[in-house]
Amino acid sequence: MSGELFDEERSAEVVAASFAGTPDPRLRQVMTSLVQHLHAFVKDVELTEEEWGVAIDFLTRTGQLSDEVRQEFILLSDVLGVSMLVETINHRTGGTSTESTVLGPFHMVESPVRDLGADIALDGKGTPCLVSGRVTGPDGEPLPGAAVDVWQTNEDGFYDVQQPGVQPAGNLRGMFTADEQGRFWFRSVVPRWYPIPDDGPVGQLLAATGRHPNRPAHLHFIVAAPGHRPVTTHVFVADSPYLDSDAVFGVKESLVRPVHEVDDPARAAEVGLPNPFCTLTFDLSLLRAGQEPPATNPGGRSR
Ligand code: BEZ
Ligand code: FE
Repeated sequence: MSGELFDEERSAEVVAASFAGTPDPRLRQVMTSLVQHLHAFVKDVELTEEEWGVAIDFLTRTGQLSDEVRQEFILLSDVLGVSMLVETINHRTGGTSTESTVLGPFHMVESPVRDLGADIALDGKGTPCLVSGRVTGPDGEPLPGAAVDVWQTNEDGFYDVQQPGVQPAGNLRGMFTADEQGRFWFRSVVPRWYPIPDDGPVGQLLAATGRHPNRPAHLHFIVAAPGHRPVTTHVFVADSPYLDSDAVFGVKESLVRPVHEVDDPARAAEVGLPNPFCTLTFDLSLLRAGQEPPATNPGGRSR
């Protein structure tokens, strides 16, 4: 016999060796590392057969609940912080541009195209808010015509796609085009915190571990401009509940902004909102397409 037989002590090495002939070097690296970490985990907790069965059942139900609309596996990745880690590793900014955060499951591939200044709150609920900002390149130069795709929940904490027939389609979403100076503005309502879908296995995991399912108040953005790296991000509302305990670990300090109340009837009339109203300002800066992001790799191995 030329192959080493399985034993407890060398289990990881024995199984990893079975992948040694993988033609794709990256797949070989990923599978070898996965086996090493999985075996170390099983040994660390001395997993019982019963626990192994619970885990298989949990993963089976997670898969069974997943389809094109409901993606319970991504939700599992989200609450384990894996989505944020992958996002952060792949979009390092070194503090030079707007940081990214999770996309989440409620983005529409084709957001309704709207004019600057439009009101995206089609259901008329919530505290009126003027959202505005400026899109610039890495040296502060304006990016005219930048595409600004936004979406948020309504006053009840649901996205329109979660409540078809209850909310108007396209409620609280819009695709805007920044003006000649890279500026954008639109009318909306102050976002509020809400729970991620918690009626499946991931919700059961959160409940069993004493975790809440809530996300702090935020407004999603995907901002893109020709010749620049697009950013998928949120602006978070300062003082929102759950800013320091987001169920999916999406909060970055650089993305938190205050909401201000404005009591100015003339300004309210100018922007088309009732007086008083709120304002939320979020400027975004994009890296150039070819620009190398900082190559920091804290705690990782060099390849
Ligand atoms: C969201 O912000 O829309 C979201 C992100 C991750 C999981 C669930 C929802
Ligand atoms: Fe969200």
